[in-house]
Amino acid sequence: MANRFRHILLILPRVLVKLQFEPVCGGQTSLPVTFPFCGLLESLQTSFLHFLCLSTHVPLRVCPLVCVCFPGRDNACEKTSYMFLRKELPVRLANTMREVNLLPDRLVSQPSVKLVQKWYMQSFWELLDYENKSPDDPHALNDFLEVLIEVRNRHNDVVPTMAQGVIEYKEKFGFDPFVSSNIQYFLDRFYTNRISFRMLINQHTLLFGNDTNPAHPKHIGSIDPACCVSDVVTDAYETAKMLCEQYYPAAPELKIEEFNAKAPKKPIQAVYVPSHLFHMLFELFKNAMRATVEHHEDDKDDLPPIKAKVTLGMEDLSIKISDRGGGVPLRKIDRLFNYTYSTAPTPSLDSKRVPLAGFGHGLPISRLYARYFQGDLKLYSMEGVGTDAVIYLKALSSESFERLPVFNKSAWRHYQGGPEADDWSNPSKEPRDASTYKEKR
Ligand SMILES: Nc1ncnc2c1ncn2[C@@H]1O[C@H](COP(=O)(O)OP(=O)(O)OP(=O)(O)O)[C@@H](O)[C@H]1O
Ligand SMILES: [Mg+2]
Repeated sequence: MANRFRHILLILPRVLVKLQFEPVCGGQTSLPVTFPFCGLLESLQTSFLHFLCLSTHVPLRVCPLVCVCFPGRDNACEKTSYMFLRKELPVRLANTMREVNLLPDRLVSQPSVKLVQKWYMQSFWELLDYENKSPDDPHALNDFLEVLIEVRNRHNDVVPTMAQGVIEYKEKFGFDPFVSSNIQYFLDRFYTNRISFRMLINQHTLLFGNDTNPAHPKHIGSIDPACCVSDVVTDAYETAKMLCEQYYPAAPELKIEEFNAKAPKKPIQAVYVPSHLFHMLFELFKNAMRATVEHHEDDKDDLPPIKAKVTLGMEDLSIKISDRGGGVPLRKIDRLFNYTYSTAPTPSLDSKRVPLAGFGHGLPISRLYARYFQGDLKLYSMEGVGTDAVIYLKALSSESFERLPVFNKSAWRHYQGGPEADDWSNPSKEPRDASTYKEKR
């Protein structure tokens, strides 16, 4: 019964889409789709997404990702990977699309958000085409690989486009603390889903396509089974330094230190995705450099160095980036993780130069990368002096499994509930009256 229901839900929207978009009977124009028909299409698509959302994710671990699903380049099983991805990728897309629909209508109707929705829908249908194609079909595997590359390219600009949608919304409708907290909640989940989605696609295309990286023959897809953490720290620092020197006359030096509590004197290595680690460190170095240079404006020839400390314990592999850039007051620390919060001028999208700061996405997205494999990113600051940013990763790859948003009743409730009245006294403002926000929604 469930299968039959699923089949109907699968077929009908496609038929309706065909009626809507494709010419019929030798080039005549398409059948006019009347209003109820469109409504039916939409509700069928929604039902189908809902149905797919009932299938839960299969989170991966860094270790099984290497050893089971993708057991090394030579003996990796493309068919197993294909069978897994053709189901898992549409499930992840469906979860995201369901959640977009819970955002306020005024946000979903912004052109940039609509464009992102369109990309997701198109990729969803393209991937679903493989639902019943046997891995033994000689063309299926190659075609699937091409589709994956197309899907990945289509989604390249999702982050700036979505950010644009949020900015458009805020400019038109202003700041509403309740909506803003929902947007923050949504974007964390949306971008995590995207990180995971790209991770799976990259693994498949790197292992079975022509994307191989000859510079790193030992990498398994995008995973380095012996990622030397200090090397990535140095790479990220050098890249940020080059960027910093385009904007300021100087950049602070780096002092790096390692402390391996598990195997003293041995270099610290991890099974990890070097590009994820690079991303986080690059963002932290940019921030530390900007703060340092601006705080020591009058003393550019004697900038205090940025210190990086890499440590390995039984549970955690931690990387601390410390600067003397003047720090941030405690009251503002949480705000730094809000999307679009930035103290730098908004960079021009037309400029050919890569911006050093200004999008307000560096910290929140880096934290998502850290959390994706069960780690975290925290900031500790002492106003007037400087900031320590710490990346925590799992020391054991067997504990580095994906942390994915689950679309369930709790998530749904998060969007539906209203703001609560303050339950702690706050002398600097009147207690918040929740009803005023509820009325606006
Ligand atoms: N080490 C630091 N010292 C002082 N302030 C910091 C530090 N790191 C971050 N901040 C503050 O936090 C804000 C947000 O940082 P975030 O990296 O998210 O965005 P951004 O640097 O402004 O823009 P981008 O998205 O381009 O990185 C910064 O604008 C800055 O005001
Ligand atoms: Mg930044």
